[in-house]
Formats: sequence, C-alpha cells, structure tokens
Amino acid sequence: MSMISRRNLLIGAGATLIAAPAILRAQQLFTAFPFRLGIASGDPSHDGFVIWTRLAPDPFDEHGGMPLGPVEVDWLVYDDAGMKKVVQKGKAMALPELAHSVHVEVGGLEPDRPYWYRFAVGGEKTQVGCARTLPPPSKPLDKIRFGVAGCQQYEDGYYTAYGHLAQEDVAFIWHYGDYIYENKPKQVNYNFDGSPKAHVRDHVGTECYTIGDYRRRYAQYKLDPDLQAAHRAAPWFVTFDDHEVVNDWTGQVSPFQHDPALFAIRRAAAMQAYYEHMPLRKASMPAGAQMQLYRRALFGDLLDAHFLDTRQFRTPQPCADDFVAVCPANGDPKNQVMGPTEEAWLTKSLREKACRWNFIGNQVMMMPLNRQTGDAATEIRNMDSWAGYDIPRERVLDAFAGLGNVVVLTGDEHQNYAGELRRKNGKGDAVAVEFVSTSISSGGDGSDRRTGSDRILANNPYLKFVNDQRGYLVCEVGRDQWQTQFRVVDRVSTPGGAISTRTTATVERGRPAISLSV
Ligand SMILES: [Fe+2]
Repeated sequence: MSMISRRNLLIGAGATLIAAPAILRAQQLFTAFPFRLGIASGDPSHDGFVIWTRLAPDPFDEHGGMPLGPVEVDWLVYDDAGMKKVVQKGKAMALPELAHSVHVEVGGLEPDRPYWYRFAVGGEKTQVGCARTLPPPSKPLDKIRFGVAGCQQYEDGYYTAYGHLAQEDVAFIWHYGDYIYENKPKQVNYNFDGSPKAHVRDHVGTECYTIGDYRRRYAQYKLDPDLQAAHRAAPWFVTFDDHEVVNDWTGQVSPFQHDPALFAIRRAAAMQAYYEHMPLRKASMPAGAQMQLYRRALFGDLLDAHFLDTRQFRTPQPCADDFVAVCPANGDPKNQVMGPTEEAWLTKSLREKACRWNFIGNQVMMMPLNRQTGDAATEIRNMDSWAGYDIPRERVLDAFAGLGNVVVLTGDEHQNYAGELRRKNGKGDAVAVEFVSTSISSGGDGSDRRTGSDRILANNPYLKFVNDQRGYLVCEVGRDQWQTQFRVVDRVSTPGGAISTRTTATVERGRPAISLSV
C-alpha cells in the first residue's frame, strides 16, 4: 500500500484501515432485470436457513452483465405470505469473486414454520420464495413430507416435473445431483436402442472447463421457469454427483484426466461455480478443489437425514468405468466410496439412534444389481455405483444392520427403482430399503419399462420395481410407516406433460421390506 493511499484512508471516515473498493450504486448498474436467475433457500436448521440469489442482468455475459465491483443487496424475511410483517431484514454484499451471488444465513427464527423472503436492489425486487425452519431435534413429530429430484440434462427435455414438484406440499426438497451437465451441445440425441430422437433444446457454450464455462451453464439452467418455481416453493438440500464437474469423476482423478494436479484445476472451477449457484452455507464454500458436502439434518424425533458425498473421496471405478463383468478388483479392500472420515461420521450418527427413521441421501445406487439382460451367465454391474465396491458396500450395510429404520434414497440411474438392501452381495439378510429416483429430464420421454428390465427384475430377487419415465419422488414419513410416491410425467419432449403416481411403496418401521400399491 502506498503512503498516499494510506493517508487518504486515514483522512477518510476512519472506520477501517483496509482499502475496500467503493460499493457500486445499484441504480446505475442494470440494463435489464438483475434477478433473472431466480432465488432459492436451502440448508434449513431449526432457527433459520440460507437464502440465495445472483445478480446477472445479462446471464450469458462473462460476468453476468455486472461490473467488477461489490454491490449491496437488500434482503427481507416475512412472517406471512402477504408480506405484511417483516421479521428480519439486512444488506448483503454481492461480490465479483463469487459471480455476484448472495448467500445470507438467516438465524434467530422460530422452529417448524414457514417464512417468506425476497431480495431487492436498485428499485428491482425478486419474486417471493417460501422457506421453512425445521422442528427442533427430539421434538415429537408425527409426519413430514419431502421431495427428491435430480439429473436434469437440459437438452434432453423440459423441466415439467419441476413445475409439478413446485405444487407439492413438501417441507423440503433434496437434490441428489447432476444439477448441470458439463457436456458440449449434443449434435444428435439418441434413444437407448441407438435410434436418433428429437433434440429438445441446446446447451449454450462449449464443454465446461473454466469457471466462465461452468457459470454460463448454471446461468442457462437457472433461467428455466419451472426450476425457478421449485426453488421458490421450498428449501433445498443439495449434493453434487459427477456432472457438476465431469462424467464419472472420483476423488482426485477424472476418467479423462489422470493427472490429479491438472484435474484439480477443473474441479476447483466446477466447485466454485456450484457454490455460487446453490443455497449452501459458508461451511460448504470450497477451498481450492475441496468442499464440505456431507452433512446431517434432524427433523424433530422423526427423521435423521444423512446427506452423503460419494464422489470426493471415492477410489476410481474397479474393473472398468462402465456396465461390465465383475472382476477380482471389485473385492479389493482398498476400495472406498466414502472416505474413512465420512464413513466414521455416518456410523457414529447412526449409532446415536436420534430419530424414528434414518434417511440416507445417496448419489449412486447401493443395490449390487446384476445388469445382465441377455442369456449369458456373466454377471454385469454398474461399476460407477456401490455395486462395484464390495467391501465398502458390505461395511455400510453392516452399519445399517439391526436398526430396521434405514431408507436409502438415490439418483443417477435415470430410472425409478425400489428394492431391498441385502448383505452378502444381495444374497444375505435385508438391512434397509433403497428407492432410486428417476431423472427430471435426463434420458428424454422414456416409457414404462426399458427393454431388458424384465430380465433384470428376474435376475435380482430383492429388486421389486423398475420404471423408465421422468419425474421425482415424494416421501411421506409417519412414525411407523414410510411411503414413497413415484411421481412421473407422461412426456418431457414438449411442454405441458401430465403428472401421475406410477406406484406408491410402503415400508413398515422395523421391517426392511417394500409393498407396492400397484
Ligand atoms: Fe445424471
């Protein structure tokens, strides 16, 4: 710092010795509405939640159409949907280092009730969102409903399912990952049988490598009105899977970049952009290529939610990164899905027996399904799932054993599945159930069953249900019964798809088994 600048600072208001750039005056900044990417709330606790927005009047511009300086944004939390009474308000700084995103951690609120919120800057206001605080830990609670969604490849279809999810009466939404897809615009889209199909909409920009590429991709996805509506409707817990960075990455390497030093550069850019666009607490702000993602939330004495991170600490896919024949590497004791620290955290949390039910928020399927659809005896597995990792899978199932109240919820597969989690490679006793949620759009319209699904059902007796339509889950948890509704839309290739419940799966507490309504 030069002598002149130091003297100027001392002559000034005298409040600080740190030279800060002048706060830009919002009234003069915006050539267009600055809140085009919407608002969101997330990571609720019993006394608060995060509220999020990002200033981006020109979303595809390198800096979202914003000048490179700090901008002060007003935030307000209301007692009522009519916005008659403000219970808290304040100012937050939107900074160019974080793409002018704003993450406000609101605290000091009453437990177990809805609140409404909005942002304002330079005479412009956002729409109003609804957040909700959690019932305090150990408070008796009879029922909770929540939504589960993810896998939203933009080019594959419209986010009609999100429009329907926004209308559901849910206390929160858990997003299991694949919020964006990093790929370059697809030249042609294909059906599962290899035939070409209609291309619904295009990615803007290249494959994502730099922070600018990832920011542009989030901006494009967040412009979607159905996605924005689902964010306004309820607080979200978010976890990433692979496509927020690159397809099938694990730990320090990507299948396309084996040098950890080089991959760390891309991963740091991806994680920064993820944090910038999600309603996450500061505890999840990335440090370089790492961020804290696994975490826990308690809903009274009813539901203990454990949100896993099955990417950052995982060892690379054994055998091959594909649906391939099992091989000796599946049994390598050095394999990991969670890291040792995360695994110890989960085991300890489960031992506390804090609630009637344990919900495991998991990214890749835990059931070790044999995916063989032909006549050969060879056992085929998805190696980018817990199916490829025998020793870590048996360890986590051992941690579930005896509890009788564990429900694993998963994404990634772009199909709905329901089944029991049995030890000994699926041949032992059932210790939990798993519901795999389909995709919001990835894979396109789909059909009730993909070719070969009947064979997979026959090969895996613990698997009870498969469906290949787009949609989301609604879970309704009571004290003794858990119900999962598989909500599906009839199409995503054109707007206006109709929603229905394909089946409802019921689990009785104390008995890891599934009964289906249809
Ligand atoms: Fe996906």
